[in-house]
Amino acid sequence: MTKKYEIAVLPGDGTGPEVVDEGLKVLEAAAGKFDFQLNFSTYNIGGDHYMRTGEILPDNIIAELSKKDAIFLGAIGHPDVKPGILEKGILLSLRFALDQYINLRPVKLYEGVSTPLKDKTPADIDFVVVRENSEGLYAGAGGCLKKGTPDEVAIQESINTRKGVERCIRYAFEYCRKRNKAKKLTLCGKTNVLTFAFDLWERTFYEVAKEYPDIKTDYAHVDAICMWMVKNPEWFDVIVTDNMFGDIITDLGAMIQGGMGIAAGGNINPEGVSMFEPIGGSAPKYTGLQIINPIAAILSTQLLLETIGEFKAAGSIEYAVKKVLRDDLKDVGAGKMGYTTGEVGDIIVNYVKGGAGE
Ligand code: IPM
Ligand code: MN
Repeated sequence: MTKKYEIAVLPGDGTGPEVVDEGLKVLEAAAGKFDFQLNFSTYNIGGDHYMRTGEILPDNIIAELSKKDAIFLGAIGHPDVKPGILEKGILLSLRFALDQYINLRPVKLYEGVSTPLKDKTPADIDFVVVRENSEGLYAGAGGCLKKGTPDEVAIQESINTRKGVERCIRYAFEYCRKRNKAKKLTLCGKTNVLTFAFDLWERTFYEVAKEYPDIKTDYAHVDAICMWMVKNPEWFDVIVTDNMFGDIITDLGAMIQGGMGIAAGGNINPEGVSMFEPIGGSAPKYTGLQIINPIAAILSTQLLLETIGEFKAAGSIEYAVKKVLRDDLKDVGAGKMGYTTGEVGDIIVNYVKGGAGE
């Protein structure tokens, strides 16, 4: 019997819808080739919808999304909406409501893409960041007193629970084992200053490590990680870290792999519904111009298919992306594609259909 998956599509704002269109074309092609069905339902939430209706993320939509097999998100962000409203009201709310406690962000330099790192090649840049996605500074704990007065106090607390830290670290060990490359997991923290939070992280890390004798462990402070991601990215295989540090180092990661046009991520609930997105923003000023690189969105569909267990189809998407980057596009890392958004999607569809990944 043909397998059938229910996929929610949230095209979002700005250039989100046009890159999502390309992701959908590629998903359809992969499903056709590998003989499974994808049933897409689109939800128009985002800045435009908020401006029109005042509605951000109604509970009934969360309830519907929680029944899907996966969610594919374009980008959220609108120039006329105050920063924080949509980010907190949609993106973070979904991550929290669906308990997507992992943010998985591969950092991989593909052949044909230039990196700002001198003398580094695809052999040097191939690691994955496992970012905790449900706690830390993002938990929203804190408050302010005497706002707007000279005595104002603002407190923003980082919440780290044993359960939250442990499930993230355990996921990272499992992922590192499955990935089966250098089998090295690096904890990224700040144990020299954040002596409460990262003491919990560090103890948990070495306790869980005992269950994974095949995985080498390593620790680095977040500032040093930033240095080494630039100087020696080849040292990394899998990095696990908290929400805030993970947010920051994955933007650095995106740059060394060729930019936001390539960087994809998954908000993962290993026991529930996961959501996949290009990690860049909605780039409103480019809306409709067909100049945005859809590869980040397309690579996020690869992660989506891996997560629902369609590994061959996922592999065919990565094969097609590799081929288009190597053989067709000019220099994506230097911001030049030489094709429109839609044309890049079309070429990738052809490569997926054409027997790739077998
Ligand atoms: C990301 C983004 C979000 C985050 C913002 C938009 C809330 O930067 O996905 O990395 O900080 O997590
Ligand atoms: Mn970010």
